Amino acid sequence: MTQDELKALVGQAALAYVQPGSVVGVGTGSTVNCFIDALAGMKDRIAGAVSSSEKSTQRLREHGIAVLDSNTIERLPVYIDGADEIDPRGHMIKGGGAALTREKIVADLAERFVCIADESKLVPTLGRFPLPVEVVPMATAQVMRRFAALGGQPQVRRGVVTDNGGCIVDVRGLAIADPLAMEQEINQWPGVVTVGIFARHRAAVCLLGTAQGVRTMTF
Ligand code: 5RP
Repeated sequence: MTQDELKALVGQAALAYVQPGSVVGVGTGSTVNCFIDALAGMKDRIAGAVSSSEKSTQRLREHGIAVLDSNTIERLPVYIDGADEIDPRGHMIKGGGAALTREKIVADLAERFVCIADESKLVPTLGRFPLPVEVVPMATAQVMRRFAALGGQPQVRRGVVTDNGGCIVDVRGLAIADPLAMEQEINQWPGVVTVGIFARHRAAVCLLGTAQGVRTMTF
């Protein structure tokens, strides 16, 4: 199976986690696009979606799925999103699509995070994928100096402005041995809006697309 076929497979499989009558939390990215397309088939059986990006909002609306303001929602049964990397404990790196801040906001509303990913995303330890960090523009240089002091190689993602007006710094070469500790540390740095380590908001379930079919991992 191609990577696109694996994404379609897990996008479809994620429908099993959508509770009829409920509002669904929806992530961002090419795997989530497959989920949104599958969700269109049951749009009359859900109350709507809370979206993590302008791109996903547009796709949801094109399918006729109502997109609700996150401020009107107290709790979501499930948040479904992709990942750039996921480790065997459900910790993830996210933000390859620059939507990490809204993704973490919607994930925070949800009872459980269901990650959908093809098997190339499963890694023993996070850090091969450059870590995305959303930063307030005036803090970029200082945040990059802090990453360099940790042994990372930070680089501003050129031409990218997030949905919140922030910029993205991608950091290569970090050894993320303790994802929760590193997430908490980087979150303290002035000017950091969101770090793309999802440890506090790790996955509860991962639907992994493999050549043998969908492998369900629970954490
Ligand atoms: C966007 C994300 C995506 O979930 C992540 O980049 C994976 O995307 P894709 O499904 O296209 O591989 O975090 O900010």
